[in-house]
Amino acid sequence: MSAPLLSVRGLRTVFPTRRGPLAAADGVDFDIAAGEALGVVGESGSGKSVTFLSVLGLIRPPGRVEAGEILFGGRDLRRMPAPELRALRGRMLALAMQDALSALNPSLTIGTQIVETLRAHGIPGDPRAEAVRLLGRVGIPDAARRLGDYPHQFSGGMRQRAMIAISLAARPRLLVADEPTTALDVTIRAQVLYLLDELRVEDGLAVAMITHDLAVVAERCERVMVMYAGQVAETGPTAEVIARPRHPYTRGLMESLPRLDQPDRPLHPIPGQVPDLAAVDAGCRFRNRCALAVAACAAPVPLRDVGAERLSRCIRAEEVS
Ligand SMILES: Nc1ncnc2c1ncn2[C@@H]1O[C@H](COP(=O)(O)OP(=O)(O)OP(=O)(O)O)[C@@H](O)[C@H]1O
Ligand SMILES: [Mg+2]
Repeated sequence: MSAPLLSVRGLRTVFPTRRGPLAAADGVDFDIAAGEALGVVGESGSGKSVTFLSVLGLIRPPGRVEAGEILFGGRDLRRMPAPELRALRGRMLALAMQDALSALNPSLTIGTQIVETLRAHGIPGDPRAEAVRLLGRVGIPDAARRLGDYPHQFSGGMRQRAMIAISLAARPRLLVADEPTTALDVTIRAQVLYLLDELRVEDGLAVAMITHDLAVVAERCERVMVMYAGQVAETGPTAEVIARPRHPYTRGLMESLPRLDQPDRPLHPIPGQVPDLAAVDAGCRFRNRCALAVAACAAPVPLRDVGAERLSRCIRAEEVS
């Protein structure tokens, strides 16, 4: 396999709290290849957003990335001089925020917002022509005329597309789509997901898709990463992970999440609670909820190769069924 576009190792992101430091990401390792869609799943509070905000350099103080390597195109973002880092982050990473109305500037036309992004990133060529191309690229009809419109003149779906067009103006190579739990209108959502697929296949854009919807992951992501309590529980090819989980948490998660493609499937929530991240020990963080837990689970458990391009942070991975 060629070198991954993004390679994260040992990422640790900490927030100070009254009860002490809380490591919302703690030893997170994963890779994303160019043109790949990685699904990211896990219960609320498992560290999905914090992990990708860390990659994007968007953790606000007093929170901070305390340790780890974030290699983007082989270069460590944490060791890069600030001006270079800004250029790289802008050009290569972009965040597709789902709340398009609040993310767009209401007092500037869509065209101006695209042109400003092009200028900010020093993209050469005629900015107006490029803005028309980008709006066309995201499927906005009559793009040349719509450049002069303000965000409120766009429908919800078109605002989403305009947001993505603005993100694409910076020529990103990785796009992080963090879905809110309050879902978009289903039609708009389907359109946005379809557009992301197209950009991935045609432009080689890598996509990290953070979602609570397993059907989205099953349909669109080659690989999936399952997070639990600030760590990666398991990663692997999506079809394999869904058919044969190699972590008891993944098994539980599969049974607890609704799937649009299997509406009649009974749901079984995972008993017990996510541990308090300000008070975790070095052992497996899932062991207090796990039917397979044994005494050895109190020792540190590394993420290990369990074959078939899969990694699991469970000493009994092979026994999960
Ligand atoms: N700014 C912050 N200050 C303190 N704690 C934070 C901050 N941001 C996140 N956390 C904590 O970090 C943990 C992980 O949060 P994160 O937002 O990454 O979860 P998530 O997996 O994205 O959840 P969801 O599915 O609900 O979006 C949570 O315990 C959260 O309370
Ligand atoms: Mg989140």
